[in-house]
Amino acid sequence: MTHFSNDIYTEPSNIDVDTLKNLGPLRGMAGIWEGRRGLDTKPKAEGPKKQVYVEHIELQPIDPQTNGPQLLYGLRYHTHVTKPDQVKTYHEQVGYWLWEPATNTVIHSLTIPRGEIVMAAGNASEDAKEFELIATHDSTNFGIRSAPFLDHAFKTVEFRIKISINSDGTWSYNEDTVLMIKGKNDLFHHTDQNTLTRIAEPTPNPLARS
Ligand code: HEM
Repeated sequence: MTHFSNDIYTEPSNIDVDTLKNLGPLRGMAGIWEGRRGLDTKPKAEGPKKQVYVEHIELQPIDPQTNGPQLLYGLRYHTHVTKPDQVKTYHEQVGYWLWEPATNTVIHSLTIPRGEIVMAAGNASEDAKEFELIATHDSTNFGIRSAPFLDHAFKTVEFRIKISINSDGTWSYNEDTVLMIKGKNDLFHHTDQNTLTRIAEPTPNPLARS
């Protein structure tokens, strides 16, 4: 049970505006990244199909955000995925990765252009090298919303992502999007994994630059 203060308007004072110094466990994810060894398991009419993929991820610091007393630092997120040596988009996501230092919480919001949005969360220590975020269809906070066709045919009931910040400067994710597919009794595990290598440093957030 979370306890909030009665004062929901007063913002924290003396906020450090340099987001890159205040990203907690997300610090190792800031920058521009490439992953050439992604592996997707996706739903097809004939059953699960595996596909290798390449990925370009941008994670750029945003200015600190306040909701009254709540302070969040974060990264703006965009990933673009193709099959190896192809131009056509295989998958795309936009969103944010947020860190709330006061509660050691990581939040990841994502939108995919299938008409679906997810907001997942988990706890992590400030210097964690591994952490997991979860969203479930029935949660009113960290949940999943899909447009009607997807809810009818491929309902996403759970989403989990595990992050590992590796000692060689790369980071990896392992995610499981659990689908309830119309006409099937068993849940389908639409899984994705990749390891990302930095190709450019992050650009400091606007307030830190000024
Ligand atoms: C790198 C990550 C991902 C990749 C590469 C990927 C790729 C794909 C592909 C190629 C399909 C279509 C299967 C086909 O008809 O050929 C698919 C289906 C689907 N994906 Fe993903 N996906 C990823 C992550 C996600 C995430 C994070 C979600 C939601 C939380 C999601 C939700 C769905 C759903 C609901 C479908 C079923 C719709 C359909 O098959 O037409 N996917 N995915």
